[in-house]
Amino acid sequence: MLARICAVLIVAIAARAGVGLGAAARPASPSKAERQKQRAKPKGRPKAKGPAKPKRRAPDTRPIKPKTKPTPKTRRWLFKAERGMVASDSAEASKAGAEILQEGGNAIDAAVATSFALGVTRPYSTGPGGGGFALIYLSQTKETVAVDFREMAPGDATWDMVVEARKKDPNAPPASRIGGLAVGVPGLLAGVEHVLEEFGTMRLDQVIDPALDLAERGFKADADYVAACKKAISQYRRNPKLVTKYGTLYRTLLNRGQPPAKGQVIRRPELASALRLIASAGVAAFYEGRIADAILLAVEKAGGIMTIEDLLNYRVRERKPVRCTYRDFEILAVPPPSSGGIVIAEVLNILSRYPLADIHADRPDEAAHLFVEACKHAFANRSRWLGDPAYVRVPQRMLTGKTYAEMLAKDIDLTKTHPTKRYGTTRIHDDKGTSHFCVVDADDNVVAWTETINLPFGSLVMTEPFGIVLNNEMDDFSAEPGKPDAFGLRTGTCNAIAPGKRPLSSMSPTIVLDADGLPMLTLGASGGPRIITSVLNVLVNVLDYDLTLGEATEAVRIHHQWQPNDVRFNGRPDPKLVASLKKRGHRIGKQRAIGIVQAIEWLKDNTLLGASDPKRGGRPAGY
Ligand code: DON
Repeated sequence: MLARICAVLIVAIAARAGVGLGAAARPASPSKAERQKQRAKPKGRPKAKGPAKPKRRAPDTRPIKPKTKPTPKTRRWLFKAERGMVASDSAEASKAGAEILQEGGNAIDAAVATSFALGVTRPYSTGPGGGGFALIYLSQTKETVAVDFREMAPGDATWDMVVEARKKDPNAPPASRIGGLAVGVPGLLAGVEHVLEEFGTMRLDQVIDPALDLAERGFKADADYVAACKKAISQYRRNPKLVTKYGTLYRTLLNRGQPPAKGQVIRRPELASALRLIASAGVAAFYEGRIADAILLAVEKAGGIMTIEDLLNYRVRERKPVRCTYRDFEILAVPPPSSGGIVIAEVLNILSRYPLADIHADRPDEAAHLFVEACKHAFANRSRWLGDPAYVRVPQRMLTGKTYAEMLAKDIDLTKTHPTKRYGTTRIHDDKGTSHFCVVDADDNVVAWTETINLPFGSLVMTEPFGIVLNNEMDDFSAEPGKPDAFGLRTGTCNAIAPGKRPLSSMSPTIVLDADGLPMLTLGASGGPRIITSVLNVLVNVLDYDLTLGEATEAVRIHHQWQPNDVRFNGRPDPKLVASLKKRGHRIGKQRAIGIVQAIEWLKDNTLLGASDPKRGGRPAGY
């Protein structure tokens, strides 16, 4: 009841404050000097220690959990290391990060190196044309910081620009997905610069080096790379107009429609020249130099509206992580403009009201039903309430509070699911994109980092020099009233396009602390809204069902995002469980992959176990 009153009050306050569409003022354009000042290192901030120490922590005091031993030898996507670890969805990128750790860099240095390398080897998922979120745990101070380098809408963006584009050309693909209007102002490099200056120990040119090497000398195309190219080529074949409109990507990375063979060496000389420039001139080369010119030209040619002011105005935001206690553990995750942390907290708060492990042991179908019901409530709230906090009042305390979870749990019927509307209504205002990785260094500094250009090869717009693929993050806004985004998600006015606003995300870099407040697990995923449920599935598998990280990563995952109103699985769920869910009124959707997880766990013997979801060919690396 209290929560309902809170909700009503919040709506009233929000309405009076006029929050929503375009309510927040756009920050004034900063001068170059201000921009440099913003980038300058603040004094006195504790740095995460650099050189590796042999001992990570005092004797392990965490509760002993009976675990079957993982079998890393037979599963190359699992890797055990003594001191430091990187788990990413690209073997080369993990190696790049691990190399930096071995050279004495800390987790932040290694994360930046991994991010640059992913930009080379996973151009369909991420790169300097994108943005993301990082969650950084500093072992020295036990402080955790969420860093937001999510894209921003250009200053000239309007809430109906995608609708207007459709009116002009009803048969064209949605303007929020393909072409210049789809491109949000990239934040990745500003993020990289920020974390390196604030928490890193190495210079930019040092951490770029492994990526530069990969771009110049080349890397071998793996199955994931080949599949992504083939899929994009077939998209061009289905719509030959794309070849004339977005030809740079087609001619270069997609090799005029000839996909690479597995094992073929891919070199990226254009991107190498951008990396060299950034290494010598700094990230400014991207936001105000020659690379900026190339971005603006590519966007303009593709019908976009981005200006140099948009690039100069880009700001990284440090935010307070979402914290949620779950049984004996503390879960740390990212706040809006990502929905990840709030949805994870809401689901876990609801589940914590049940003895889930016991229920799962006796009645796995009931445990699955509870999981789905919790997701339906949390995803309905995602649609109703969440957006960029600079523009909308997000009732974060209410949504992540235990009282609210209690109220939602009371609404759950163990025997049946409810109609969609019962979970909430949204005022619809009239898998291969994305890459997650995690890093742990010998001092137990932790970085969980998710970055993306959204859909595979983003907007298909690529800069002519420098080979940078630009994101289509504008599709994460509620871009066309009444229409879902590419992931079937529906959001409302809270997430309408506005100048300078950040689109709502599902990215969920997560860190779990044990009862002593020490990190015990870090994870995240790619896969749009399935990011959130992938993280939740693995969390519940490890924390409640006591699976090893390998088992937890491989286990069949279950997904529900409120709308569309169906339960999805990856892999083959037990037919009895499916039948039991159907009996409760759940619709079962088409089976498909649900997110790609990367995770690192601290084992009892004080070593680290990295897991790169086998569905994408990543390999952890460490030493
Ligand atoms: O920020 C988001 O939620 C989406 N842009 C993520 C897209 C994604 O994960 C695509 N993945 N496979």
